Amino acid sequence: MNIKLKIWRQKNAKSKGRFETYQLNDVAEDMSFLEMLDYLNGTLIKNGKEPVAFDHDCREGICGSCGIYINGRPHGNDHRTTTCELRMRLFKDGDTVTLEPWRSASFPVVKDLVVDRSAFDKITNAGGYISVNAGAAQDANAIPVPKHNADVAFDTASCVGCGACVAACKNASAMLFVAAKVTHLAQFPQGRIEAVERIKSMVAKMDELGFGSCTNTRACEAECPKGISISTIAKLNREFISAKIKD
Ligand code: SF4
Ligand code: FES
Repeated sequence: MNIKLKIWRQKNAKSKGRFETYQLNDVAEDMSFLEMLDYLNGTLIKNGKEPVAFDHDCREGICGSCGIYINGRPHGNDHRTTTCELRMRLFKDGDTVTLEPWRSASFPVVKDLVVDRSAFDKITNAGGYISVNAGAAQDANAIPVPKHNADVAFDTASCVGCGACVAACKNASAMLFVAAKVTHLAQFPQGRIEAVERIKSMVAKMDELGFGSCTNTRACEAECPKGISISTIAKLNREFISAKIKD
């Protein structure tokens, strides 16, 4: 198939970006979206032009590095897929495909489609871990975790930190990401010990870094490639309010 690509090109965080249009022919429908970009970059390099910068690592939906706004949606139009899992068979011959970086002041553009998502690392460093001595593996395994808690932990642990929730939200809120992290860790007896402090410090860091508030539009839930439920935000809010009342 032949497609037209409208791609956001931006030299660095300080320069002004603009869309550039590329005609790409003979795209195989078996290609992944990122293979299509590799193919584009091959042709750009062959013609002496600057390749398009985009982020990726695992290319199998695990690391959360890839993230492109495709035709107005984070990670494109397929249900619960990351950009790297998107396949070109979802597009048609003659389609125009628009590619933009995540748009959020807290995720500044590094180059072209690459944004700096280190704000998420800073939120995680503020408390997204268990620091109590949980012993060795066999000690942790000896403490039973009820089935319901284990299920919730598995579901919320699937957050890959891609940032699509922020990109989708009109308030650029990071609440779904934070809620997934605090809910995951709070399911374990070892994680409960620091649960209240964890919520307070991660929410404070999120606010400090300029992410907006949640106004329940559910855009994050609709675009999250891992299906993290907005009910985790409700849970976080309940725990946050009760912690603040006790302060
Ligand atoms: S909650 Fe979903 S959209 Fe947000 S960072 Fe995690 S996986 Fe990505
Ligand atoms: S490259 Fe790892 S999730 Fe897409």
